[in-house]
Amino acid sequence: MECTNMEQKSPLRNQQMYGQRIYYIETFGCQMNVRDSETAAGLLETLGFSRGTDKDNADLILFNTCCVRDHAEKRVFGNIGALKELKDENPNLIIGVFGCMMQQQEVAEKLYKRFPFVDIVFGTNLLSRLPAFVESADSGARTLAVDENNIQIEDDLPSIRTGKINAFVNINFGCDNFCTYCIVPFVRGRERSREMAAVVEEAKKLVSEGYSEITLLGQNVNSYGKDLPDASFAKLLSLVSGVEGLKRIRFMTSHPKDLSDEMIAAMATLPNVCHHVHLPMQSGSNEVLKQMNRKYTRERYLEIVGKLHAAMPDVELTTDIIVGFPGETEDDFFQTLDLVERVGFASAFTFKYSPRKGTRAATMEDQVPDLIKRDRLRRLNELQEKKSRANNEKYVGVTGLAHVEDCDQRNEPVCYGKFSNFKMVYFPGSPDLIGKYVRVTITNVRKNSLYGKIAE
Ligand code: SAH
Ligand code: SF4
Ligand code: F3S
Repeated sequence: MECTNMEQKSPLRNQQMYGQRIYYIETFGCQMNVRDSETAAGLLETLGFSRGTDKDNADLILFNTCCVRDHAEKRVFGNIGALKELKDENPNLIIGVFGCMMQQQEVAEKLYKRFPFVDIVFGTNLLSRLPAFVESADSGARTLAVDENNIQIEDDLPSIRTGKINAFVNINFGCDNFCTYCIVPFVRGRERSREMAAVVEEAKKLVSEGYSEITLLGQNVNSYGKDLPDASFAKLLSLVSGVEGLKRIRFMTSHPKDLSDEMIAAMATLPNVCHHVHLPMQSGSNEVLKQMNRKYTRERYLEIVGKLHAAMPDVELTTDIIVGFPGETEDDFFQTLDLVERVGFASAFTFKYSPRKGTRAATMEDQVPDLIKRDRLRRLNELQEKKSRANNEKYVGVTGLAHVEDCDQRNEPVCYGKFSNFKMVYFPGSPDLIGKYVRVTITNVRKNSLYGKIAE
């Protein structure tokens, strides 16, 4: 259902009256939102706007929102409330809010009503209409637009990349998995894959623009191609790998249930596919995994980990874990700690379960009290910190190729970049190294980070 609401407000505002206008975008949430904000920036620049670096002197402020956890929602409401002062000072300021959180009709309406100074509210599906919404705001109209059905893939929208050395490339959108805790399938719609040729074309274009590293993005990259004839993630990796000039291919996120042997083989044999897998485990308890609708067991998870290590001895794994899912007992939680202990992740994003309205888990009995969730999160984080340190120690003396992301010249000049397997390394160097691939030997571990020097 589409709901569009435009109401007349302040007098005409336009570009000729105010000269070059500045936009500022604040992005919450995951890489999908980062990529969407790049598209929003591209659309605004075609309207003649230019990028600004802070809110205070912007003519247009956009918030790209996330609703995956309660915390993300609260932050957005707080941040938008704080914009009223800026709007009072500059009535010509246009304020827009979009993204996943606004894809929820009820929440979009609530925000639209609560903050009359917000000009534009629209769901994540309507991004391509941003220019029209800005034009209506220029003529003094407010917009509230949520469309639950628009699921076309729009490949060719302009965008302004924000990654210095790495560019995000969408490969599939949406999600069909309906993990019982997760709101994403409701706000991002059904899974749909871009054509392999479109992905390859984009990768070629990025190389011609100077990028040698890309990250293929999807909520579940492993099921890429299930809606296309003769396509799979392994095939896509192989095609993208053939793009001349592309030195590193990363991807995220991998759902364990769809991680195939073909994909492991592709990773291990294609020279420019990075040896890193972000493989959310969510829980180590089979009962909780079942209740979460994850469709794998801890045994299957360990089997995949074993295969990845066997095929690529230098592979690093990272993960997402939820504690305090409804019904999670102390014994279930112990199973999570045990799996973390066994796998040895390089790092983990850990979360307290946050009930999301409309999801199955939100109405499950045996919701876990916050105090217990907090305690489990603390214990899990303590264990993961220990494992991360141990993981780092094994790098002392190791030499690898770092793709230099940036250099901080403030105190001692320190450059940083990642090895192929996602390990971030710091070493003395100068800004002319940014974008280059440098051999770095790790000399020590400081505060959980790897330090080294450029190899002879
Ligand atoms: N598509 C990815 C993850 C998307 S959301 C995947 O399937 O792995 C990113 C992470 O947020 C999830 O992996 C999960 O750990 C966490 N998350 C999602 N919903 C949550 C909720 N309701 N409460 C707490 N954490 C949640
Ligand atoms: Fe959410 Fe599960 Fe889909 Fe990931 S796979 S986006 S956690 S429903
Ligand atoms: Fe959040 Fe939407 Fe990503 S809900 S995690 S920004 S897909």
